Order: sequence, then structure tokens, then C-alpha cells
Amino acid sequence: MRINKYLAQCGLGSRRKVEELILENKVQVNGKVINNLAFQVNEKKDKVTVENKEVKPFNEYVYLKLNKPKGYICSAKDEKGRKTIYDLIPDAKGRLFSVGRLDYNTEGLLLLTNDGDLAYKLTHPNYEIEKEYIVVIEGKIKESECAVLRAGVIENGKRMPEAKVDVIQVLKDRTRLSVRIDEGQNRQVRRMFDPIGKTIILLKRVRIGEITLGGLVRGKYKELNEEELAYLSKI
Ligand code: URA
Repeated sequence: MRINKYLAQCGLGSRRKVEELILENKVQVNGKVINNLAFQVNEKKDKVTVENKEVKPFNEYVYLKLNKPKGYICSAKDEKGRKTIYDLIPDAKGRLFSVGRLDYNTEGLLLLTNDGDLAYKLTHPNYEIEKEYIVVIEGKIKESECAVLRAGVIENGKRMPEAKVDVIQVLKDRTRLSVRIDEGQNRQVRRMFDPIGKTIILLKRVRIGEITLGGLVRGKYKELNEEELAYLSKI
């Protein structure tokens, strides 16, 4: 099996991500550093280590969904001592990683898995997996501003990806919108609203492809059901 696939199956991240470990000379096979991305591992005989720790593919994949509250970060540790998603799912630490990230102040649906291939497919723009966000902004938004968001706002002279945008509720002092995007660039939704001068009060992801947050309580997690797993297996 190719080394990147092998490492992804060990739960170390997507194939693309584990290639970085290889290029950083952190991966050894039978005691020798491997920096050839096409290296073939003999799963029966070879001993593979990453930063001197032996790694083995998981026999079983795990898929969880979490309703991440605001005020948690998605990495395993934080130099500022902030709470992490692993405070909510202690068993997942070192075993499962999040598929993409939600930033500190964003809440909602986060998938966790040890299936690196799936993580790659769900986050790579080529697979066009739509992510839906509920965005609550201060004040109102004009149709012409929604059109700008849909076409892709210009940021530092570069056009951001297109988005599907619908106003779902207009209140006296705030407006609730649905925003759907295929990509997952860093702080993409927040960055979209900056150029049109809107302040985001709440940002919540409610769907990734056909997987929805459903009624999952904030801060809680559960395993994906059979229907959700069947959908993932078709991607
Ligand atoms: N877009 C953002 O701005 N933040 C997130 O966490 C996710 C998407």
C-alpha cells in the first residue's frame, strides 16, 4: 500500500496532510527515513514509525458528529490554554481528528473520524460537498448585497468563491441568512461579510453534504447512523 494511504488509515490526517509528515522526514520504515511519496509499505512485514512512535492502521473507522459550542478550538492543544473539542470528547484525543475546522467563535456541526480518505473528500473543493451555515447579522441586508455575496466578494483584489445565499428571517435589529459553500477556506464565511460591512452575531454550521446537525444538543456528540454512513460511503 502506498505510504500516504497507509498513514491516512492510521488516523494521522488526510493523504495530503500525511505527505507533509513524509516531506518533513518524520516517517521511518524499518528504521529508515522515507521521503519518497510513492513508497510502498508491506503491511504484513514493515514497521512504520512517525516521530519514533509506531503507527498501525485502524481496523475500524469511527465517525462522530459533534455540535461544537462557541468558545472551543478544533486542535488538540492550544498555547493560549483555551478549551478544545477534546474537552467535550476526551476519548477522541489522539485517535480522531476533525474534518475541517470551525473557528473559536463558530458553532455547529463538526465531524470527527479516523478515516483520512473521507476527511480529504469532504474538505477538497473538487468533491463539491456543500456546507450550510446559518448566519445572523446585525441590521438588514439589501438584495444587491446578497448578490455580491453570491457572485463572490472581492478580497484584496481577488474574488472569493461563489456562495448560495438566502435571507430566511428579518427581525427589527438582525437578519438570519442561510449561506451554502463548497469550499472550506479559513474563516471563509466571516471574510465574505467583511467587505460588505456586516457584523456577524452568530455563525453556525448546520449541514455537511447530507449530514445535518439535526436535534443534537450543543456540546453533545453521537455516532453517525446507518443512513449517514451509507451517504459517506457513496462520496
Ligand atoms: N467560515 C468561517 O468563517 N468560520 C468557520 O468556522 C467556518 C466557516
